[in-house]
Amino acid sequence: KPSLEEMLRSSIRNIPDYPKPGVMFRDITTLLGNARAFRRAIDELVHPYAGSKIDKIAGIEARGFILGGAIAHQLSSGFVPIRKKGKLPHDTVRIAYSLEYGLDEMEMHKDAIEPGEKVILVDDLIATGGTAEAAAKLLRQMGADIVAACFVIDLPELGGRQKLEALGVPVRTLIEFE
Ligand code: PRP
Ligand code: HPA
Repeated sequence: KPSLEEMLRSSIRNIPDYPKPGVMFRDITTLLGNARAFRRAIDELVHPYAGSKIDKIAGIEARGFILGGAIAHQLSSGFVPIRKKGKLPHDTVRIAYSLEYGLDEMEMHKDAIEPGEKVILVDDLIATGGTAEAAAKLLRQMGADIVAACFVIDLPELGGRQKLEALGVPVRTLIEFE
């Protein structure tokens, strides 16, 4: 029986030079398409929180929606989407964050989180941590109690984990790639 690590690693597809030359893109669509790998990834991400009351899962667009939806179901939590600007129909809170080139903005609905609610932040991958850090700041602005931030993949050389930990957000990841 392959280890969890072996199973996840072998179910993730590596795409060289995507989206630009020199980048090795870690494609989780193959993990999502593998029923056993998808279930094991979700089970492993949530197991520390099983039995504790988590009010909301906040998923980051786009792949954080897929994982976050499954995690919300598993923990019997609500789901809150954190989206690129201009996509949410009601009143929002917005934060700017830096990408490799330039700035972007993300939003969530103002009424999506009640002060004091326990929230887990979810995305597929943490690289520089800029995206997750901005999402954590938005959640804190809404009064969320961020229990953890969970990712399938960590790219540790890019230092994202430290960025979140500096905010006091515990980080859970399943596998690392260079
Ligand atoms: C990827 C990934 C994370 C983010 C991580 O999303 O899914 O959200 O980048 O990078 P960071 O830690 O350096 O901020 P992407 O920008 O590809 O957006 P998409 O999911 O909407 O395609
Ligand atoms: N895969 C998915 N998202 C990413 C990656 C990757 O390899 N690097 C930065 N964001």
